[in-house]
Amino acid sequence: MLLIAPSILAADPLFLGRDARRMVQAGCDWLHVDVMDAHFVPNLSFGPDTVAALHRRFPHMPLDVHLMMDNPEHYIHRFAEAGAAGITIHAEIPKDLPALLREIRAVGCRAGLSLKPATSVDAVRELLPLCDLVLVMTVEPGFGGQPFMREMIEKLPALRAAGFTGLIEADGGIRATNLPLLTSRGLDVAVMGTALLRSKEPEKDMAEMRKAAAV
Ligand code: DX5
Ligand code: ZN
Repeated sequence: MLLIAPSILAADPLFLGRDARRMVQAGCDWLHVDVMDAHFVPNLSFGPDTVAALHRRFPHMPLDVHLMMDNPEHYIHRFAEAGAAGITIHAEIPKDLPALLREIRAVGCRAGLSLKPATSVDAVRELLPLCDLVLVMTVEPGFGGQPFMREMIEKLPALRAAGFTGLIEADGGIRATNLPLLTSRGLDVAVMGTALLRSKEPEKDMAEMRKAAAV
């Protein structure tokens, strides 16, 4: 069954709680929190305090934290303590990725690995057994509202062909019109910012997306 994870990066920063509540009330499965360090990506967004506030307000809503950071090692514990359900790091950072993935699991979070568009499944094959989730970027990370990169969809079957049995998530430019391209290739979790946070009827849109994915 398709899981839907609205990205709060697309929320009105002055009404983050209101917009997050709107997504929760509309029936989202997770809330996706894009953390950006103004170094790995040319943008700056949220920190552990925002995750902690979301966890206090929505204690039963899994928080899917996407670390677009060069130095996640300094923050894994802090996001776990803040209430993250999943922590995803990027395959492109020059760090000991196996150790970081093990640490994410050790603090009780789902360990995720994200692939920028230029990163192939082959490049991360050895890391897959350490991952509970792989996040396929369908845009260059850093900003919401970008166009969907259709050529990324082939990474989904490639992950399964590489023996990956965990959750496959996609992120960037996803909307009802292109979502079937992903669900027909085995997508488990869809991250959507603009498509859902700007929707007039998010509950109806989510229900229709799940229905279309189920056929
Ligand atoms: C981009 C982020 C995405 C983005 C999705 O770096 O990782 O989660 O917020 O937003 P949309 O759906 O608007 O592309
Ligand atoms: Zn993201």
